[in-house]
Amino acid sequence: MELIKWRSAYETGLGMFDEEHKILVGMINRLYGALREGKEDQVLRSLLEELVGYTRDHFAHEEEWMERKQYPDIEQHRFEHNSFRSTIKDLNRMVNQGVEGLGRPLLQMLRDWLLHHIQEVDAKYGQFARESELG
Ligand SMILES: [Fe+2]
Repeated sequence: MELIKWRSAYETGLGMFDEEHKILVGMINRLYGALREGKEDQVLRSLLEELVGYTRDHFAHEEEWMERKQYPDIEQHRFEHNSFRSTIKDLNRMVNQGVEGLGRPLLQMLRDWLLHHIQEVDAKYGQFARESELG
């Protein structure tokens, strides 16, 4: 069972970023599956590590593109990435310290953040890319 089903509304129009977003959605769905099966303890730590690594690469990829394209809203975008980076790092630290029961709040945070970010923030660079191609 999936928590997030990929829809066309999530597409930025830039295939490379859409593919990376699908991988992030897949990680969230895996966490959801693990929670449903009562396997939170087994997967949470490794999934968080994976998420920290993957978002680091993905955000760097987006930011590098925005810099290259001289995207005007880059600072606001970077700010959102940074706040996510620090939240996820804090959570990772807590899990490594043995704090329990973080799976559900983490899942909710990830879903809300990612869907907001893709549809509200990433969508803007998609629009920018389309407009700059036109003219
Ligand atoms: Fe982004």
